[in-house]
Amino acid sequence: MGINSVKNGPIGVFDSGVGGISILREIRKQLPAEDLIYFADSAHCPYGIKPVDEIRQRTLEVTDFLVDLGSKAVVVACNTACEAGLDRIRAKYPELPVVGVEPAVKPAHQVTRNGKIGVLATHLTLHGERFSNLVAKYATGVEVFTQPAPGLVELVEAGKLDTPETKTVLHKYLDPLLEKEIDTLVLGCTHYPFLFPAIQSICGDRITVLDTGMAVARQTQRILDEYSLLHPTADPGKETFYTSGDPDVVKTVIAKLWLHSPAVVMQGKI
Ligand code: DGL
Repeated sequence: MGINSVKNGPIGVFDSGVGGISILREIRKQLPAEDLIYFADSAHCPYGIKPVDEIRQRTLEVTDFLVDLGSKAVVVACNTACEAGLDRIRAKYPELPVVGVEPAVKPAHQVTRNGKIGVLATHLTLHGERFSNLVAKYATGVEVFTQPAPGLVELVEAGKLDTPETKTVLHKYLDPLLEKEIDTLVLGCTHYPFLFPAIQSICGDRITVLDTGMAVARQTQRILDEYSLLHPTADPGKETFYTSGDPDVVKTVIAKLWLHSPAVVMQGKI
């Protein structure tokens, strides 16, 4: 394959479901000329309450799917999948640029004023080695309060972003963090940025809420540049959506979260 045909290839992006669209939106803003393939592993969602080995295996299978579709780079737009499988993906595809995500503990350390940081994420993310290394490395001299939040991913998957039900579940997880007087909240799951208005209505303006979408998009650009893989033309890129779940169901929620043209969603059988 010639270098230009590789440069013309898509960036593959995946998540357990539609949460990674919070990352995809930032990648689209940062890299308007790139073609993007998004895979929502809806048939296996949520990842965060499953055994780590199962998710590790699944992340490899989804990466294989994206590579088979000609992806020139893969963005693992899921904190849980990164915790479980990022190292394995990189080991299997040493030549492939692979971008991961991680909870924004490092930026939180920089912005906190009172040294109290809350992290909302899945059980798997919060109990993993990557996360404990992240805290040990970047959260020196501050207190980090972690809160697993089962149920939030399912609400986003159902498109319930700011409903009374969503607010009730959010209160259950945010109230204990607010009692600890955190001034910074890290959204350590790519589904949660879609809950930002509901989260902010509970936390108020005093709390800085951080996610990683923009940083991941910038990192994707840097890595493509480093590998000389940025798209060679300035024409607007296109997006293709796949799901392992029911395309009609997933299409309805993607149309809500992806604010550009209505999405066509194809069945990705893996
Ligand atoms: N968006 C995924 C993450 O960032 C959700 C995990 C799940 O499916 O439980 O962790």
